[in-house]
Amino acid sequence: MSELQLDANKESLFNADLRQKIDVWVAKYPVGQAQSAVIPALLILQDANGGWLSKPLMDALAVYLDMPAISVYEVATFYSMYELEPVGENKISVCTNISCQLCGSDEIVEHLKTRLGIGFGETTEDGKVTLKEVECLGACCGAPMLQLNRDYHENLTADKIDNLLDGLS
Ligand code: FES
Repeated sequence: MSELQLDANKESLFNADLRQKIDVWVAKYPVGQAQSAVIPALLILQDANGGWLSKPLMDALAVYLDMPAISVYEVATFYSMYELEPVGENKISVCTNISCQLCGSDEIVEHLKTRLGIGFGETTEDGKVTLKEVECLGACCGAPMLQLNRDYHENLTADKIDNLLDGLS
């Protein structure tokens, strides 16, 4: 997906569809507290921008939510679900935190790296997959696990990973 075009006027930032989606979240908070919607708003913009957030996009969101740009950057750089560089069509986030590590995430990571021919923070040459290492995703009872785009996959084995990769568009 191509990058979003931005307009200089707050009222016409993004496009009507995106403003409407962001406004749904803004409306959940008291008047004057639009910045409380920054987390879902960043996700909405990231999805619409091919999976990543550019600086102009974050700056525009700061204007739209009436908050300092630095506060938007702070959120976007804190959570691993946001991307600040272009990513592949699919994103695989592998948890390597303690529960997953104890249950075999090292082998899972090696299998993924071998199958994809890339390391963490890299994208396959055909642009299909970006591989990422993340901290605990809150699914420790299903360790080892990974997130493929929006979905969690748990109790991973090499076979399960092969099936996942073979099923990617
Ligand atoms: S340690 Fe991997 S999901 Fe919690």
